[in-house]
Amino acid sequence: MTMMEKNWIEIGSLDDIPRQGARVLKTRIGCVAVFRTADNEVFALDDKCPHKGGPLSQGIVHGTSVTCPLHNWVIDLGTGAAMGADSGQVRTHRIRVEQGRIFIDGSALAVSEVM
Ligand code: FES
Repeated sequence: MTMMEKNWIEIGSLDDIPRQGARVLKTRIGCVAVFRTADNEVFALDDKCPHKGGPLSQGIVHGTSVTCPLHNWVIDLGTGAAMGADSGQVRTHRIRVEQGRIFIDGSALAVSEVM
């Protein structure tokens, strides 16, 4: 599988996202948070906590999870599911990283702007 496949959209480089930080993509289906972990894994989730819609992109990344800045729910970056006693799930988007460039599966979204 290569990056030339038509549904993969290049959204920037790994270096555009600080370690344990996030950047926000504005898309036609809403904002998507793109996270980079300390181990340089990259995940994309809707930027909307499954609890009350908090901006996950402003949360604290630890391991492969993010803690929502509003009420501290912990969300698994891989599945989008709330962890622990909380229940709920946010939509995730497939990501590929190739030679330091980040690509998102655009089949479910139309990226209009990268912030
Ligand atoms: S909105 Fe995220 S924990 Fe409440």
